[in-house]
Amino acid sequence: MDNRPIGFFDSGLGGLTSIPHIMKQLPDERIIFFGDTARTPYGSKSPDTIRQFTMQIGDFLVKNDVKMIVIACNTVSATCLEDLRAAYPQIPVIGVISPTAAVVAKSCSEEDRIGIIATKVTVRSCAYEARIQEKHQGLHTFSKACPAFVPLIEEGIIDNAIMDLTIQYYLDDFIRENRINTLVLGCTHYPLIAANIRKLYPDLRIISSSKEVATAVKIELAARDMFAVPQRSDDLENVFYASDLSENFVNMIKTILGREEDELNIKFKNLDL
Ligand code: DGL
Repeated sequence: MDNRPIGFFDSGLGGLTSIPHIMKQLPDERIIFFGDTARTPYGSKSPDTIRQFTMQIGDFLVKNDVKMIVIACNTVSATCLEDLRAAYPQIPVIGVISPTAAVVAKSCSEEDRIGIIATKVTVRSCAYEARIQEKHQGLHTFSKACPAFVPLIEEGIIDNAIMDLTIQYYLDDFIRENRINTLVLGCTHYPLIAANIRKLYPDLRIISSSKEVATAVKIELAARDMFAVPQRSDDLENVFYASDLSENFVNMIKTILGREEDELNIKFKNLDL
């Protein structure tokens, strides 16, 4: 049993999309979330820069006495998972790619045509292909970097024609030419445009990294006997930090968690020390 909070982080607000899945599956757990909104997007930056930012966030979460770190970001999972594990051997560190690849490997067959959409860094790393092939050789995968999605989502440009056109710009040919029938949202920002994607390509099966990581957290906590014991609801305070408290970050937390601002503990934290 361990009542310390679980630390989550992302380059921005995308990682928030994993929080409702955690709250549903693990209602007794307390969460500290950090979104590096001042420095987003990570997905087009160099691995060295991503590593430097990631270690700052890791130190911040560890100083806040988290019992586990969840990298709610595919880009960081693809580049720095092992760096974080080496830096904090005392706590488990979980990335989003392996749990998502495991679901793809289990639920897809050789007949499927699996598209993986992600940031440039994630696509260049080939981390998805490697993890999927390790678990299920012979699956057909195709990757596509979609670098304009994250800046638009961070700006809140979602439910409109600009986003729909951007999706079509990246995905129309990709889906048609490769005959994709299954699409992996290999970026935790992308569940925020899943409804647009479903509307444009209603026959696609969608697998989301934000959802699959919740199951991995549950399995890890069970294996280490680290579940929190049920607490009074006022002790269950979650904290949401951002390195830039933009209006859109605050609005997104409210939308994703379905709570009002005064019910949420939202704080500013500059890590660029
Ligand atoms: N949400 C992030 C991911 O899952 C990265 C977005 C970005 O900063 O480019 O890859």
